[in-house]
Amino acid sequence: MKVYASAPGKVILCGEHAVVFSEPAIVMAINRRAFVCAELRNDNTIHISSKDLNLSGDFTGRRFKSEADESEAAVRLRPIWVAARKTLELSNKNLGVNVFIHSEIPPSIGLGSSAAVAVATVAAVGRAIGLRVSREEICSVAHEAEKIVHGQPSGIDTSISTYGGVIAFRRNEGFVRLKTHVNLSVVIGNTKIERSTGDLVRHVYQLRELYPNVINPLIHAIGHISVMAAEALRRDNLSQLGDLMNINHGLLVALGVSHEKLDQLVAVARRAGALGAKLTGAGGGGCMIALTTPGKTKLVAAALSRAGGDPLIIRGSAGGVRTWVA
Ligand code: MEV
Repeated sequence: MKVYASAPGKVILCGEHAVVFSEPAIVMAINRRAFVCAELRNDNTIHISSKDLNLSGDFTGRRFKSEADESEAAVRLRPIWVAARKTLELSNKNLGVNVFIHSEIPPSIGLGSSAAVAVATVAAVGRAIGLRVSREEICSVAHEAEKIVHGQPSGIDTSISTYGGVIAFRRNEGFVRLKTHVNLSVVIGNTKIERSTGDLVRHVYQLRELYPNVINPLIHAIGHISVMAAEALRRDNLSQLGDLMNINHGLLVALGVSHEKLDQLVAVARRAGALGAKLTGAGGGGCMIALTTPGKTKLVAAALSRAGGDPLIIRGSAGGVRTWVA
C-alpha cells in the first residue's frame, strides 16, 4: 500500500530570529507544498529518494549506501531518515520503509522546505504503519529531524507546516491561530543565494553575547512588532502591517542577518508600491517578501523580476499536513 502526505511551506511575516529567544513571531503557510509517498518494506532498511535533490540512498541500521556522492547524500538525507526512523519507532514492529519525496518548495531559501518534508514524512510513514499519529506528535517528531538541519530551531517551521493558516507562535508556549478577512497578497523575491539557517542563528547568539545591552532591546522590539502585527491582521489593517514589516527589516539588518541583494530587492519592492517589504526566514540570502494591495501585486512582481529577484506570487494556505491512500 502506498500512503501519501503533503505539507505546506511558509513565509514568516515578522519575528524571525527573535522567535529563537522566545519572542512571538507571525507565520503564514503558503500554497507551495512538499509531497511524500511512503511504502512499507519487510526488511529494516529505510530507502529515501528525493526527486528535487536528485539524491537517493539506503539507511540500514547506522549504515548508509548511495549511488550518488555518498557524503553529500548522507548529510542531505539524514534529517528525512531521522523523521522516518523515529516514526517507525512509534510502533514495535521491525519494519523498513521506502520514502519518495517531491517538493514544490525550493530548498535553503527560507521557505520552510526541510520542515515541510519532515512533517510530510512523519505523517506518511505514521499512516503507512497504521498508527493514528496526532498533529501534535507529527510536529514533535518532525522537530527532532529539524534539529539535525538547523541545530536549535524554534519549532515555528514545523508548527506552521503541520497546522497551516496564519499563526502567532511563541517557542515553548505554542501558537494561536490568527483570523484575517483578507487574502494577503504577498510576492516573494528570491536572491538565489543559499545559506545555512544554523549559521545565521549562531551569528545572532554570538552578537547577543558580545553586546547584550544593544541586542536584547532589538530582539524585544521585534517581539513587540509581532504583537502589533497580530493586532493589525485581526483588524485587516494592511497598511500598518506593511509599516511593521519595514521596521522589522531594519532591525534584522541591525542583527546582521540581511544581505546586500536582499536589501536591494526590499528597496525595489517598496519603490514599486509594496505596503511593506522585508527579508523572510533566516536571511543572509534566501528570500524577501513584499506585502502588496491586489492592484499592485503584478507591478511589484515585475520590478522584482527586473532586479533579478525571480518573483513568486503566493497565497496563504489554510490547510496544514494531509494524508491519503492511493
Ligand atoms: C527560520 O525559518 C526562522 C529562524 O527564526 C530560526 C528558527 O526560528 O528556528 C531564523
